[in-house]
Amino acid sequence: MSSNLINEIDIVKASTSKISSVDFENLTFGNIFTDHMLMCDFKDGAWQKPVIKPYEPFMIDPSAKVFHYGQAIFEGMKAYKDEKDDVWMFRPDENFKRFNHSAKRLAMPEVTEDIFIGGLKAILDLEREWVKKGKGNTLYIRPFMIAIGSGVIAQPSTQYRFMIILSPARSYYSGEVKVIIAEHYSRAANGGIGAAKAAGNYSAQFYPTKLANERGFQQIIWTDDATHTKLEEAGTMNVFFRINDTLYTAPTGERILDGVTRKSLIDIAKRDGINVEIRSVLVTELIEAAKDGSLKEIFGAGTAAVVNPIVGFSYQDNYYELPKLENSYASQLKEKLTNIQYKLADDTFGWTVKV
Ligand code: COI
Repeated sequence: MSSNLINEIDIVKASTSKISSVDFENLTFGNIFTDHMLMCDFKDGAWQKPVIKPYEPFMIDPSAKVFHYGQAIFEGMKAYKDEKDDVWMFRPDENFKRFNHSAKRLAMPEVTEDIFIGGLKAILDLEREWVKKGKGNTLYIRPFMIAIGSGVIAQPSTQYRFMIILSPARSYYSGEVKVIIAEHYSRAANGGIGAAKAAGNYSAQFYPTKLANERGFQQIIWTDDATHTKLEEAGTMNVFFRINDTLYTAPTGERILDGVTRKSLIDIAKRDGINVEIRSVLVTELIEAAKDGSLKEIFGAGTAAVVNPIVGFSYQDNYYELPKLENSYASQLKEKLTNIQYKLADDTFGWTVKV
């Protein structure tokens, strides 16, 4: 099959829409999906013609590699509506690049820009009614790819399915977020798949996160697997620490996901005169800073969670509470980022892309 497949896309419209039954004010993250989905298969060494069709379950062989060997990757993105009813994506090129980085790491075929970016535009154009106006309203976009080739031999599939599904969303966390600093379990190791947005990176966290939940904590801050001394990433977000007036976040690399929200916040903070240091913060340093009062803030940053303040953390069974600040870096940065996303502020970075 040739390139520019998106020009040949088949669109099969749903006969009815479920939009009128959705309570957009009371959404639980990731539970409701729009009327359509995009599907594009890879077989015989090439991407086939994409189709947008009604959202529905589909059948794949029980021996498909995704079920047995976890060949599955995804992205998290959002669409926003401005006051003029235009729909916008935020840095889709970054998600496209990261998706293909993940694909390569899991021995999956890379998706063409035409299918990924063109596919996003096509499905968002069709579903624009699902993107509601007003800050806080978003349409969460989940592009993903799974190995659908059959056979339980442990080798990469020869057939794949790329899909885009869409879910109206407001906040990811509904209450306060308290975290535990990892002392035993690890999210990623050098040489592993930590920097890929691979499904397995998330399922591997479910058990330790469940243990944390049982103790009243919502998330874990992962530390480096070798020494558990360096603070790296929270389960669904990158993580920032403010000590005095400097903002710290760990460098991305083999173990840490290169978050789009993370890198955008760094650019906004630097532009606005906040001192940002990209370096690992040690657990000992954090405890010291919590004890002497120089630790002002910890917050997570991710597409789904946006900017999420962390109210306290636990380490070695001691709990440390963060101060409640007026005009925190977290609230300032969130405001500036979302103003760009909703076209309420000039996008001097050139991050927003119109659908
Ligand atoms: C996102 O922030 O979009 C993510 O992919 C995290 C996911 C666990 C919701």
